[in-house]
Amino acid sequence: MAQLLSTAAEKLSLGADAGKVVYIDEVKGSDEAGQGTQDAPFKTAIKALDFAGESAQIQVKKDEEGYKEISASALKKAKKTLVEQQRKAKKQEEQKLKQEQEKDSSLPKAQTIKIRDAVASRGKRVKVSGWVHRLRVQGKDMMFAVLRDGSGYIQCVLTGQLCKTFDAITLTLESTITVYGVINQLPEGKTAPDGHELVVDYWTMVGKAPGGDDAFTNKISQDADPSYLLDQRHLVLRGETASAVMKARSQVIKAFRAHFEHKGYTEVTPPCMVQTQVEGGSTLFAFDYYGQQAYLTQSSQLYLETCLPALGDVFCLAESYRAEKSHTRRHLSEYTHLEAELAFITFDDLLQGLEDLICDTLDRVLADEPTRQLIEQLNPGFQRPQRPFMRMTYADAITYLKENEIKKEDGTYYQFGEDIPEAPERVMTDKIGKPIFLTRFPAEIKAFYMQKCSDDRRVTESVDVLMPGVGEIVGGSMRMDNMEELIEAYKNAGIDSAPYYWYTEQRKYGTTPHGGFGLGVERFLAWLLNRYTVRECSLYPRFTGRCTP
Ligand code: 4AD
Repeated sequence: MAQLLSTAAEKLSLGADAGKVVYIDEVKGSDEAGQGTQDAPFKTAIKALDFAGESAQIQVKKDEEGYKEISASALKKAKKTLVEQQRKAKKQEEQKLKQEQEKDSSLPKAQTIKIRDAVASRGKRVKVSGWVHRLRVQGKDMMFAVLRDGSGYIQCVLTGQLCKTFDAITLTLESTITVYGVINQLPEGKTAPDGHELVVDYWTMVGKAPGGDDAFTNKISQDADPSYLLDQRHLVLRGETASAVMKARSQVIKAFRAHFEHKGYTEVTPPCMVQTQVEGGSTLFAFDYYGQQAYLTQSSQLYLETCLPALGDVFCLAESYRAEKSHTRRHLSEYTHLEAELAFITFDDLLQGLEDLICDTLDRVLADEPTRQLIEQLNPGFQRPQRPFMRMTYADAITYLKENEIKKEDGTYYQFGEDIPEAPERVMTDKIGKPIFLTRFPAEIKAFYMQKCSDDRRVTESVDVLMPGVGEIVGGSMRMDNMEELIEAYKNAGIDSAPYYWYTEQRKYGTTPHGGFGLGVERFLAWLLNRYTVRECSLYPRFTGRCTP
């Protein structure tokens, strides 16, 4: 601003652009977006003078009457105001410079840190940059600003002259600033993040956020409509809860990877653009691929299976896509899918591997103190589930529903062979109150590739992991390893086997018993972090009708 005004002052005194006609419209003009033309007029005479200099010929429009030359008194007033503004800005700039010079010469050089390093940097002069997360002004001589840099929060205290500059007086939430000073532990009885505060000796504004109607607090309020909040997701993410979920998500993903790394699995990155289905044609997103029909992948499972002979046990962490019409709180159109595939295993090995994955991941995230704190913040009192997890067959679940009077909408009981939808599954899981491995689903209600049980050909070696509060978070199974049986299964499912030649040939060139699973990362997080919906666990959730921002 000072730079702009001093340029204006030069123009005033030198009379640059003498005689230039500049248009202002006091109603519809804009000092920010205008250009001083009839089509894009400025709003104020001050801006016109600033733009074109003292001798500008200013044409004013106040109403529908059209442009008229500015009155002498209005011109005089505008010139006076501009000079005054310029004087103030210059003074401020000088004051800033003076402060900077004083500090630079008398204080030790500040070490640039991230807020996460604040505890270790106590007592030293530091430089921290971040966003103003909270702001409290106490009288004329004291301001408390909680700064956020994504790595943590720190309370900064500004006193005396530091609170009296134009930038200090007009400081707003979400503005970016850089502060210099020393971090001191707080005395007993005072509270702030990490029990300390940064006593600021110098600070600068990096980018001022708007105040007034456009202020951050006016854009986001907790009780706003969820759809509006999703439109404002880029701002909502800055909040303490949303950012905590995203941080925990990052740590959970790291722990999943560490688990598989520890067990010697190889991570692969299968394609997202495919020409085969895995979990039924009704949830495929189709698109035109150079004139051919292609889909966004529903699951990388088939590709993982093909990796077994080359790489041994494999896993991937990739986006899967489901064109589900369901509006439930656990469905997304795009979700992060953790999938693994294991060779030469039994169904029991598969279940054991799944239990290990869940428990070891929890052990890893809880062993990291900052992550444990995030989980405690979001889901106070969270307890690791006890091993071994409960195992229940689908047939027993049908009996359980009957015995517990959990019925269909029409008042009848679920029968063997029927799909157990989300609502009754949730009631049962919440009633049992702990993780359940639900196994041996009937072949007709599961995907074409599932291995049938040798002791009962009606059911499959399949498992869904159900968690209280969410329901199904994992789907897995042993895979058909006999080629003829698989070709029959394609037929039964009405699938043309030709595009699946690469999958089928797994059974031709060295078949093996094998199995795997897919875990919905957002569903796992919704359970661990006690979120009402998986939408909260996705950075920018996509679901029916929403593909923005
Ligand atoms: O049970 P699903 O459909 O199984 C498969 O895709 C297998 N091919 C995976 C495999 O064996 N490699 O999906 C697996 C998991 C579900 O348990 C659920 O957690 C998640 O993926 N999931 C979804 N999450 C959010 N929104 C959706 N629409 C989801 N559909 C499935």
